[in-house]
Amino acid sequence: MRSSSCIYRHTSMRSRKLFWICIVSVSLIALYFSFRYFVSTITELPAGDSLNNIIRSDTENIARGKILFDAKCRFCHNAYNTETIAGPGLQGILKKPELPVSRRPATSDDVRSQLRQPFSRMPSFDYLTDKEVEDIIAFLNTL
Ligand code: HEC
Repeated sequence: MRSSSCIYRHTSMRSRKLFWICIVSVSLIALYFSFRYFVSTITELPAGDSLNNIIRSDTENIARGKILFDAKCRFCHNAYNTETIAGPGLQGILKKPELPVSRRPATSDDVRSQLRQPFSRMPSFDYLTDKEVEDIIAFLNTL
């Protein structure tokens, strides 16, 4: 009799512990998803998109990107063909599978790293803000 009540108490303590572990993990998961949702609303991302790989398609972003491109990239890069000036022509740059020189995947993330830490001879554009880089990528995506 005594031993069985002891077993009973033991299992109920264990299930109570399990219960709390469940509650804590469910809350952590809920917290994680609400945080992701919060981040996606402040940056206006469609849910599920990677924060770094999003490409904007609003006309204002594209227009600002073109102005930046003309001011900072055009003397080394053709936008409307693939002929080289100092760097490769960037026509269709984000529509091809690979970037022309480094052969890294043609994603917005890799273009961003080309601007921050260029592959070899291109000057770095580390001083551009994230927003400006986003605009340039929006423009490149239309080429
Ligand atoms: C002074 C010349 C110069 C300027 C200005 C310049 N680039 Fe480049 N770019 C290069 C050269 C040279 C390469 C070839 C790869 C290298 O040397 O890093 C290149 C490569 C690239 C590539 C392909 C990278 C790869 O991985 O194959 C992209 C994309 C690019 N540039 C985008 C830009 C953008 C966007 C700007 C403007 C913000 C810009 N470049 C400004 C010279 C330039």
